[in-house]
Amino acid sequence: MKRNILITGGAGFIGSHVVRLFVNKYPEYNIVNLDKLTYAGNLANLKDIENKPNYTFIKADIADLDEMRRIIKEHEITGIIHLAAESHVDRSIKDPFTFARTNVMGTLALLQAAKEYWESLPEKYEGKLFYHISTDEVYGALELTDPEGIESPFTTTASSSEHHLAFGTEFFLETTKYNPHSPYSASKASSDHFVRAYHDTYGMPTLVTNCSNNYGPYQFPEKLIPLFINNICNRKPLPVYGKGENVRDWLFVEDHARAIDLIFHKGKVADTYNIGGFNEWKNIDLIKVIIKTVDRLLGNPEGYSDELITYVTDRAGHDLRYAIDSRKLQKELGWEPSLQFEEGIEKTVRWYLDNQEWMDNITSGDYERYYTEMYQNR
Ligand code: NAD
Ligand code: DAU
Repeated sequence: MKRNILITGGAGFIGSHVVRLFVNKYPEYNIVNLDKLTYAGNLANLKDIENKPNYTFIKADIADLDEMRRIIKEHEITGIIHLAAESHVDRSIKDPFTFARTNVMGTLALLQAAKEYWESLPEKYEGKLFYHISTDEVYGALELTDPEGIESPFTTTASSSEHHLAFGTEFFLETTKYNPHSPYSASKASSDHFVRAYHDTYGMPTLVTNCSNNYGPYQFPEKLIPLFINNICNRKPLPVYGKGENVRDWLFVEDHARAIDLIFHKGKVADTYNIGGFNEWKNIDLIKVIIKTVDRLLGNPEGYSDELITYVTDRAGHDLRYAIDSRKLQKELGWEPSLQFEEGIEKTVRWYLDNQEWMDNITSGDYERYYTEMYQNR
C-alpha cells in the first residue's frame, strides 16, 4: 500500500534516525519530514538521504494550525509519527512557556488538523494512524532503593554486559500513574493526554509510546553523553549535577527507531508501549565509562581526563531514577534492544570523534554563548 507519512521533528536527534530508516526501508512510501528547525533541528543530520525521491522536507511550526491543515491536506497524509518537541529538561526549567506552546499546543494543532482532514475523507479514519512519541519522564521518578545496584531481573541479548544492574525493585509499566515533575515532563504528559483524548472522544486511531534515555549519533550536545564527549575532547570541565547518583536507563537510538517502525506497522491502536534499554546506569558510573572510552580512542593514558569531573549544583527537581519495564513490547511484538551497551557507547564515541565538523558547526556561535552562560550560572 502506498502511504504518505508525516514525520515531525525529523531534523532532530531521534527523528533523523526514524526518517532515515523509513526513507531507506520503504521506497514505496512518501516520507514528509516537517520541522521548524529550532536550535535542535539540523538538516546536516539527513545529508545522506536528502535527495531520495521518496523524501520531502518542509520547514513549519507544528503550533501553526492553518499550516498543519494545509500540509496534511496537500500531501494527503495517512500516517503521522510525531516527534517534534522541545526536549531538554534544563531549558524547560528556564523557559516553560516555550515547552507548553510546542509540546502541548503544537501536538493539539497537529491532532486537530489530522482529525479535520481524515474526517473529510469518504473512508474517514480507516487505514490512518497518529503515533505520538513520548517519554518515560511522564511517570515521575522511582526510588533508588539500592545505591550500589543489584542484579537486574531483566535479561536480553543486549544486557549481557558485566554491568547489568537495577538500582531499585520498581519499574515503570504502561499502567504506572503519571506524575511528571519538570516543565518538560509536564508538557509531554499533557500532550499524551490530548492524544488519548482524541481517540476516546473522536475515535481517531492513535498510539503512544514512552521511551527511556536515548544515546547515539546526531544528538544535540547539550545532552549528557555528547556534551561530555565534546568537553573531554576540548579539555573542558564535565559538570556532574549533584552527587552524580541519579539513574537513567539508556537505549541506543537505532533500537528506538526500530521499535517505532515495528509499532507503527504492528502496534495495537489506542494502546501504549513502554520502550527501554534494560540498561540502568548511575550518572557517575556512566561518565567514567565515557571518559575511559574517549581517552582510549584519543590515545590518552588511562585516567587522563578524570580530573575534568566537576560536581556542580544539582538540577532543580532532578528525578532520581528512571527504569522502564518494556516486556509488553518484547512479548507482544518481539522487540528487544539489539546492541550491548559497551558496543553502543564505543560506536557513539567513535562517531562523535569522526564527525568533529558536525560538532563544531553546532557548538560555535549562539550555542557556545548559551552554554557558557548556563555553566557560569551553576
Ligand atoms: P530533539 O530536541 O533532538 O529534536 C526535536 C526536533 O523537533 C528538532 O528538530 C526541532 O527543530 C523540532 N521542533 C521543535 N519545536 C518544533 C515546532 N514547534 N514545530 C516543528 N518542529 C519543532 O529531540 P529528540 O531527543 O530527538 O526527541 C524527539 C522526541 O522524542 C521528543 O518528542 C522527545 O520528547 C521524545 N523522547 C526523547 C528521548 C531522548 O532521550 N532524547 C527519549 C524519549 C522520548
Ligand atoms: O528519559 C527520557 C528523557 O531523557 C527524554 O525525554 C529527554 O528528552 C532527554 O533529554 C533525556 O532527559 P534527561 O534529563 O534524563 O537527559 P540529560 O542528557 O539532560 O541528562 C541525563 C542525566 O545526566 C540526568 O540525570 C542529568 C545529568 N546531567 C546532565 C547534563 C546535561 C549532568 O549530570 N550534567 C549535565 O551537564
